[in-house]
Amino acid sequence: MTDDRNGPGFPEEGEYVLTQDWPGEAERLALLEAMVDPLCRRALTAAGVRPGLRCLEFGAGSGSVARWLADRVGDPALVTATDVDLGLLGPLAAAGVTVRRHDVVVDDFPPGSFDLIHSRAVLEHLPAREAVLDRLAGWLAPDGVLVVTDCAIDTTAAVPAPVGAALQAWIEVLGITGTDYAWACGFPDPLVQRSYRDVGVEWLRPDLVGGGPVARFWALTVERLRVRIVAAGLADDAVVDAALARLADAAFVAPAPAFVATWGRRPVPGS
Ligand SMILES: C[S@@+](CC[C@H](N)C(=O)[O-])C[C@H]1O[C@@H](n2cnc3c(N)ncnc32)[C@H](O)[C@@H]1O
Repeated sequence: MTDDRNGPGFPEEGEYVLTQDWPGEAERLALLEAMVDPLCRRALTAAGVRPGLRCLEFGAGSGSVARWLADRVGDPALVTATDVDLGLLGPLAAAGVTVRRHDVVVDDFPPGSFDLIHSRAVLEHLPAREAVLDRLAGWLAPDGVLVVTDCAIDTTAAVPAPVGAALQAWIEVLGITGTDYAWACGFPDPLVQRSYRDVGVEWLRPDLVGGGPVARFWALTVERLRVRIVAAGLADDAVVDAALARLADAAFVAPAPAFVATWGRRPVPGS
């Protein structure tokens, strides 16, 4: 297969391609929440979430973690939920959460604004992820905690074709934009390297069961990226169609892409 770097659909470096203007994106994000919220809640609990903390959830998507944080800290106004696209955050704003359009790569917050910062499935997509991590510590109060959850996968070798081929095409097509799913495989190293304290890590390794919610999430992700995958010459429509058929078949079982959460207390300045 060949690719056409100037053709329609070819992904660009630094482009966020999973935008919310796709009709299936709200369902895709709801399935992501159902799959990974339990991991995030355990990580946030281990990191010490409690009443009264000022929280930031950046790249909040449709906001399930921000909603849960609002409940845990006891006052929705203590929680700030940001995204470059606020299309799915209206209900959160109506519930009293502070909702702001904010690009975490370029926009700032005053020093010490938050006691807890969380993000999920955002840094993996940002080519500037290391620079963003460098800036996050400054937004934390002195004993504040950072919790980062991302998808962590460096190979789909264990997933049978054609699903494995479609998932590999997903990794590679987003790789063109700067997404790095191998980055989180090294957690908690990015926090250790920055001298975060009381560091922890937890993995989630879901199963892909054809027709189930995890398989539906990955089927929507592959369908969402079909045009990009084909334009980049990574797989053709027949492979994508065959993968979607297997993902809908209850007889199909395979390991799903993993997620990992890491957390730690803000480094002591100068350490
Ligand atoms: C894969 S979605 C994850 C949404 C949500 N965090 C979740 O896990 O349910 C990534 C989100 O990050 C947002 N995003 C992408 N680039 C961003 C940036 N530079 N600053 C803030 N948000 C960004 C997208 O609009 C999208 O809502």
